[in-house]
Amino acid sequence: MSESIATLLSRASTKAVTDPGPTDADLRTIFEAAVRAPDHGKLRPWRFYVVRGDARQRLSDLFAAGAARREPKAIEKEREKPLRAPLTIAVVAKITPGHKVPEIEQTLSTAAAAMNILNAAHALGFGAKWLTGGNCYDPEFRRDFGLEPTDELIGFIQIGTPAEKISTERPDPSGFVVNWGV
Ligand SMILES: Cc1cc2nc3c(=O)[nH]c(=O)nc-3n(C[C@H](O)[C@H](O)[C@H](O)COP(=O)(O)O)c2cc1C
Repeated sequence: MSESIATLLSRASTKAVTDPGPTDADLRTIFEAAVRAPDHGKLRPWRFYVVRGDARQRLSDLFAAGAARREPKAIEKEREKPLRAPLTIAVVAKITPGHKVPEIEQTLSTAAAAMNILNAAHALGFGAKWLTGGNCYDPEFRRDFGLEPTDELIGFIQIGTPAEKISTERPDPSGFVVNWGV
């Protein structure tokens, strides 16, 4: 088995991550992988907002404010989320409304970029996890984060040095395959 296939076949999400996070050179590699996403119409819909260092506290405050609006019981849990990884990438689809390439395809391209981020982080030895939660769908949060109303916030990817052993157990893929027309 090639090394690249072995890397693909061993990826799993890592919730518990710690310092150090990716360096600028690691991030460059991660984003080079991200922009390998298929992109109908070459619209380049992907935007990657890197949150690290002191900016994590500002994101934490926005998470807490979002929880205060939607679910006050969860304020402290939400406040903690952006602080538990050294680095978070908010992955955004910059949608071109009314384009002949449907909006869903622009979002799907961005999701493919997110998947490449997860795989590249794993290939570099980092742990990563894709999270959404209510903030992604909260117009006030999206505005306060700095997004346009037409932007889709497809998730936050937290990346750092793995602090737990990941489970690589997976279902047998043959259960999801249909040999159509046979
Ligand atoms: C679009 C999307 C949103 C997700 N949002 C969350 C989330 O908010 N919280 C969470 O614990 N897991 C979330 N997950 C799931 C994790 O990223 C991860 O896939 C899951 O824990 C299973 O781990 P695995 O990737 O190793 O299968 C999300 C996954 C996707 C694709």
